[in-house]
Amino acid sequence: MSRQWNAGALWMPGDPKVGATLDRLHRESKHDRIVIARAFPTGLFALLRGRSWFEAVSPWLKYTYVKVGYEAGELMYTTARAINARRIVEFGTGFGFSTIYLAAAVRDNGGGGVITTEIEPTKAEAAAVNLADAGLNGFVEVRCGDALETLRDVEGPIDMVLLDGWNDAYIPIVEMLKPKLRRGSVVFADNVKFFKNGLRPYVDHMRDRRNGFVTTTQSAGSGFEYSVYLPGNGPDPQ
Ligand SMILES: C[S@@+](CC[C@H](N)C(=O)[O-])C[C@H]1O[C@@H](n2cnc3c(N)ncnc32)[C@H](O)[C@@H]1O
Repeated sequence: MSRQWNAGALWMPGDPKVGATLDRLHRESKHDRIVIARAFPTGLFALLRGRSWFEAVSPWLKYTYVKVGYEAGELMYTTARAINARRIVEFGTGFGFSTIYLAAAVRDNGGGGVITTEIEPTKAEAAAVNLADAGLNGFVEVRCGDALETLRDVEGPIDMVLLDGWNDAYIPIVEMLKPKLRRGSVVFADNVKFFKNGLRPYVDHMRDRRNGFVTTTQSAGSGFEYSVYLPGNGPDPQ
C-alpha cells in the first residue's frame, strides 16, 4: 500500500526529496509480484531437482526491487540515529530503497558514509541515480561486484550493517566484517521469516552467544533479525 509522506514527518523533517524518491520506488516496485510469479515455476523446478532456488531465478530477479519495507527502513533509520552511526555497510543495494534510509540517517547524524554493494551492474547504476534523486549521493559509495570481494577492505569502525542479499552469504559476510564492528554496533538481516529454512543457520549463528551478538527477530517486513555486537559475557566493563 502506498504511503503519503508529509513534510512534517517525525523522522524526516523537511525532506520532501527523500520522501518523493521513496514513494516513487515503492510504486515502481509493484511490478515485482508479476515477475516473481513468472519465475516461481522455474524456482520450484530447481528445488525439486536439488538445485539452488536463487541460481535458477536470478535471471528474473535482475529486474525486481525486492526491497525492504517502510517499517524496516524506519527501524534502521531510528536505530542509526540512536547509536549515532557514521559508517554503515550494506550487502545488497538493489535499487537503493534501503540505502536511502541508511544514507539519510548518516547525513542527519552530521556526516559519514554508507558503503553498499550490488552484484548486478544495472541495479548498481539505477541505485546511484535514485540516491542522487534523493539528494543523498554524497553520503554513499556504491561498489559493484560480489560482496565477499567488494566489502573485504572496508575500514572500521563499522557502526551498522544491513544484510539484504542472497541467503548463503549472510554468515560469511558478518564474519568477514566482525573484526571491524565496534562494540554496540547493530547488524540487521532481512527476510529471516520469509526464508525461514534458508536463513535458519544465520539466525542460529547470531543466537549462539559465543559468536558475540545479542539478537532478536522482529516482524518488520519479511522478518528482520536485529543483532547487537556485544562480545564477551556479562555486563559491559565500567
Ligand atoms: C533483496 S535485494 C536488495 C534490496 C535493497 N536492500 C532494498 O531494500 O532496496 C538483494 C540484492 O542483493 C544482490 N546480491 C545478491 N548476491 C550478491 C552478492 N554476492 N554481492 C552483492 N550483491 C548481491 C542482488 O543482485 C539483489 O539486487
